[in-house]
Amino acid sequence: MSGSLLVDNIGELVTNGAGEGPLGIRRNAAVLVEEGRVVWVGPSAYAPAADHHVDAGGAAVLPGFVDSHAHLIFAGDRAAEFAARMAGQPYTGGGIRTTVGATRAATDDELRVTVRRLRGEALRQGTTTMEIKSGYGLTVADEARSLRIAAETSTETTFLGAHVVPAEYADRPDDYVGLVCGPMLAAAAPYAKWIDVFCEQGAFDVDHARAILACGQAAGLGVRLHANQLGPGPGVQLGVELDAASVDHCTHLSDADVAALAATAHTDGSGTRTVATLLPGAEFSTRSPYPDARRLLDAGVTVALATDCNPGSSYTSSMPFCVALAVREMRMAPAEAVWAATAGGARALRRDDIGVLTPGARADLVVLDAPSHLHLAYRPGVPLIRQVIRNGVPQ
Ligand code: NIG
Ligand code: FE
Repeated sequence: MSGSLLVDNIGELVTNGAGEGPLGIRRNAAVLVEEGRVVWVGPSAYAPAADHHVDAGGAAVLPGFVDSHAHLIFAGDRAAEFAARMAGQPYTGGGIRTTVGATRAATDDELRVTVRRLRGEALRQGTTTMEIKSGYGLTVADEARSLRIAAETSTETTFLGAHVVPAEYADRPDDYVGLVCGPMLAAAAPYAKWIDVFCEQGAFDVDHARAILACGQAAGLGVRLHANQLGPGPGVQLGVELDAASVDHCTHLSDADVAALAATAHTDGSGTRTVATLLPGAEFSTRSPYPDARRLLDAGVTVALATDCNPGSSYTSSMPFCVALAVREMRMAPAEAVWAATAGGARALRRDDIGVLTPGARADLVVLDAPSHLHLAYRPGVPLIRQVIRNGVPQ
């Protein structure tokens, strides 16, 4: 779309910048967009003229959701495993290998169709930025093609060759770590921005995780990791040690883990350098206790919310669903949850151009079918996303 775009008649504008409360709310506001960027925010009554116009009709407008943790490159599904869990089976992560088999057997186009379907689903639910991980290929060729296909859809791509040790390396995990750090990383790095490891009992221990993340860092990738999901462990503190942008899951934390995250606080009071990303869709779908968001927030830790969209532990692409869960089950205030799903996700990706609606930011806006952000948690399961504008373009 060429020319400027004015979104006016906004009853409640969440800026995550200057304004009322933690969300920087402005009332009766308008946003002017030029060349994919926000160039002006102010009272609707004083809005400048523009080439194109969206009338929000008094509704709430917020920054597009930033989903900083998703596994979209896979084939098949695990609905039967989900049903078994709902009948009482525990979640162990062992099902990952089922998806690895299906993914290896899939064609590039089959993988492409799935990633586009899920990305489209998320976009219709207000997600304007979505991180995408590999991790269901686990061979040099399958990890490289997973990331090549992911990079067609997102710039936020993550190499997760260390998701689990694949069956063919079951009795020689050291050799698999060598493969991940050597030829697999070399093949994946051109398509990846981040490196991730599933640091958990039954996946990778802390020494293997440290070695893999350090190799990724040396290859120029940023660090993030799956940590403390299924039980307590060293993952969170390893993330802090390696200056991870985010440690994800954080379901089982010790006081020392929380203190280590809090100690990464920026000196200007703008939160922590390492973000705790909480993934309540995983606890929902594995019927597990939710992480204690309140404890992290009260310690001053920056919290993000993301979907963890994957066929095993959390097959949802819906950020509004995660916001509702965070409020109902994790004692987050609605404003905290909305911040975590927008600006928090941006922090988890070390981005300052998204997750906010202030001049200079990318013009990613969501118009709700509701007068306030509160409705995202207050009206769970209801399609409240009326319109999405991404990069200044109405979708
Ligand atoms: O984030 N924890 C590891 N990876 C995924 C689960 C993947 C799967 O079960 O297929 C997660 O929950
Ligand atoms: Fe995950």
